[in-house]
Amino acid sequence: MSHNVLITGGSGYLGGTLLARWGTANLPAYGKLYALVRTDDQANAVKQYGAEPLSFNPTEEAAVQAAVVGNAITVVYYLIDAMFSEAQVHFIKALAEVKKRTGHEVHLLHTSGAKVFSNHAGAPTDRTLLDTDPKLYDIQKSQKAGFELMQEAVHTNSVVIEEAGKHGVRSYIFVPCIVYGKGEGFGNPISIQTVAIVRAAKSMGRMYRFDADRPTWPVCHVVDNTIMYLDLMRKILADEDPGYGKNGYYLASSGSVAWDDLYLAMASALTKRNIIADDSVLLANDQILETLASVFGVPKELVPVTLGGSCEFTADRGNKELGWKPLYKPEHILETSDAEVELILQNLED
Ligand SMILES: NC(=O)c1ccc[n+]([C@@H]2O[C@H](COP(=O)([O-])OP(=O)(O)OC[C@H]3O[C@@H](n4cnc5c(N)ncnc54)[C@H](OP(=O)(O)O)[C@@H]3O)[C@@H](O)[C@H]2O)c1
Repeated sequence: MSHNVLITGGSGYLGGTLLARWGTANLPAYGKLYALVRTDDQANAVKQYGAEPLSFNPTEEAAVQAAVVGNAITVVYYLIDAMFSEAQVHFIKALAEVKKRTGHEVHLLHTSGAKVFSNHAGAPTDRTLLDTDPKLYDIQKSQKAGFELMQEAVHTNSVVIEEAGKHGVRSYIFVPCIVYGKGEGFGNPISIQTVAIVRAAKSMGRMYRFDADRPTWPVCHVVDNTIMYLDLMRKILADEDPGYGKNGYYLASSGSVAWDDLYLAMASALTKRNIIADDSVLLANDQILETLASVFGVPKELVPVTLGGSCEFTADRGNKELGWKPLYKPEHILETSDAEVELILQNLED
């Protein structure tokens, strides 16, 4: 029996680019490709990539069972929600049932995020933290995040690994970071972090920074991020046993840049377009945090979480296990910030 694959989040930035590159990825033979959708338009759109649309609620256990078991799906890529684990656990149980019925190996990829491996989530930032660190699962288990939602996201990674292990499902914790570049899918073409920087600067009329020191954060072009998703899929479809479970953390990043450099590069692109008055970058004070909190609809304490922080998480597994080689160096995000700002301004919903 060949693998049947379900991609979720196909109308999103990451999932859309994944679907768009699927056909040219030279993947090994598989049975069927399915895509989870929520609307008729999405259902029509995913067909152009050879995907059969499926519409069901991923947080309803019975619906997940029916879709996964009914279609003998053996690989699920989850690209919907980094925070909570409810749907992933449903998928794990359904995949376990497929394994029981067919004897076929089954796989679940959970898309997390670099924030879950940063100071905001209580991860170590006084040293490099490799995604191949053999103690990474234990480190995550002992992390104490500054606030509940981030603790939940840390917990989700562990829950996915534990539940998958218990049910004989191979799990992968895929970690995107600051992803940038134009999304290639039919839906959302813009990312999250760079968009937040533009929104903040636009609403304040100037660029702010949120850390007194000069912390760095991993970055990745959306095409490189997608190539890693596909490199991992290639190994899974070929039954080549890529690292999974406690050895299944995959950070997609070519390296890190300092937030300060990113703010500055984006500030000059915004200044050029008269969106902000000049490209100086000021340290946000309490009052600025208050205002930005209302812009983003989050408590004041979460503004620096949305717009800064320190993350020493470093990619190692992708190259070692998958032969993943990023096309773009980390500095590329700074060199192309003008195009990124233009893309965001064109697509930002005010
Ligand atoms: N982009 C980044 O830089 C980045 C970095 C780190 C982590 N991540 C994480 O990666 C994931 C994907 O990010 P993204 O940038 O691709 O986000 P996105 O553009 O907002 O896409 C989210 C996708 O999930 C779908 N979705 C949401 N709720 C759903 C539900 N209940 N049922 C079915 N589909 C649902 C959306 O469908 P609709 O179009 O119908 O809403 C959309 O296809 C997120 O969890 C994000 O936090 C992203």
